[in-house]
Amino acid sequence: MDIVKIFDTTLRDGEQSPGCSMTIGEKLEMAKQLSYLNVDIIEAGFAISSKGDFESIKKIAQEIKGPAICSLARARQVDIDAAWEAIKYSSRPRIHTFLATSPLHMKHKLNKSEDEVVAIAVEAVKYAKKLCEDIEFSAEDAGRSDRNFLYRIFAEVIKAGATVINVPDTVGYTVPHEFGDLIRDIKNNTEGIEKVDISVHCHNDLGLGVANSISAVVNGATQVECAVNGIGERAGNASLEEIVMAIYTRGEFLNKKTNIKTTEIYRTSKLLSSITGVQVQPNKAIVGANAFLHEAGIHQDGVLKNRMTYEIMSAETIGLRDQELVLGKHSGRHAFKQRLIDLGFHLSEEQLEKGFVKFKALADEKKVVSDKDIESLVSNDTVQFEEKYKLEYVQVTAGNTTTPTATVRLSSKDGEILETACIGTGPVDAIYNAIEQLVGIKFNLQEYIVHAVTDGTDALGEVTVRIKEDEDVYTGRGSDTDVLVSTAQAFISAINKFLYYK
Ligand code: KIV
Ligand code: ZN
Repeated sequence: MDIVKIFDTTLRDGEQSPGCSMTIGEKLEMAKQLSYLNVDIIEAGFAISSKGDFESIKKIAQEIKGPAICSLARARQVDIDAAWEAIKYSSRPRIHTFLATSPLHMKHKLNKSEDEVVAIAVEAVKYAKKLCEDIEFSAEDAGRSDRNFLYRIFAEVIKAGATVINVPDTVGYTVPHEFGDLIRDIKNNTEGIEKVDISVHCHNDLGLGVANSISAVVNGATQVECAVNGIGERAGNASLEEIVMAIYTRGEFLNKKTNIKTTEIYRTSKLLSSITGVQVQPNKAIVGANAFLHEAGIHQDGVLKNRMTYEIMSAETIGLRDQELVLGKHSGRHAFKQRLIDLGFHLSEEQLEKGFVKFKALADEKKVVSDKDIESLVSNDTVQFEEKYKLEYVQVTAGNTTTPTATVRLSSKDGEILETACIGTGPVDAIYNAIEQLVGIKFNLQEYIVHAVTDGTDALGEVTVRIKEDEDVYTGRGSDTDVLVSTAQAFISAINKFLYYK
């Protein structure tokens, strides 16, 4: 079977989507998980776009072994220099440069002729090639570009040293049959194409990102660009887990396979959701909460007789275990650690220990602690950094006959104890007013989300908050059986991130 390379752009195109911005530490954690997943290439960011992006690409290039590490760059020397400065620490660096090729973009955005666009692209690739062996060139908006022009520009950049040519359907406009044809035509008509990888990058505006990518693979694409949970500009990028599992499940038919370790898929999806606070919809293919559930009686009956009646792949393949076993207050450290390993967490001893303390406290309150509870408890601590403030206690009075009042006590890493009480329009407002008063900063709260981790009134309530300072967004999470405690934890966790990264 032919290998299809998986180019992950979660940390670049994915991170551009609203609510998905990540700190350097979170990107590094995500990149580590992508290396466990065994993606072939990690697009770690767009180096010139911000100092934070540059630093996170550099850190990923320095620390992540295995996948090639890539930075995006416009077809300009300053961009290419910045990309190279960030990725040069990797043993497999790649520069990804791009320029628009559709008549619409060339006329209205670039104000350049075809000849000028070819000249700029060739110059950029030649320049990048002096710095780095592996160069990818993308013809932005290729889905709406003239085919003859694509053959020409791709042939020229290949002569200039490109090792990968990428065909983006930037606005998710094409349909599978048409996009497959485009790839086949590029393969048949571009001089030198046999020397390079043909890559595709499909957006999901019509919900066809994955279908277009698979059609491209059938017609000769050797690399697919995609993002975990399908995040990305507007309606997102083609989803990594869907592409990988389509190739895995229909490998015989397609005669293709990937290098992905599929049992890391579930954990990768979860990690991204817990970092960004953006959950996937329950019916999302592969990683949605309902993806492997059978509700209808006829289906349940069929599955009990033979799973294959209604299951085309098994949950275990993506790293999802049966949730039959539960832990309780008599479960020991060993069982807890083993469960985390089974759930796909890659945690340090210190993180495991911290999780165990939280687990014990929860097991005292709830008879049965499920996998979802455990995931929720430890997810907050997967990305480690020095936290300035810790919640010592929060106490709230609220109701329809009283003014909501919160008393909050924090300890700081320098050993200081801070305490105050504030009123608010409701209990959440009162808590946030008190915390802001203690840390002495007013924050711009962008989003506040509460969700119950499991069924039942004794469920853990998980709170995600997003605060925005200047142009940067910081996400914090809290998890407790008392949602007001989770509320305070989440706000403090976002503030700690802000203080650390600023
Ligand atoms: O969608 C797009 O065209 C892109 C390119 C930069 C590859 O993201
Ligand atoms: Zn894109």
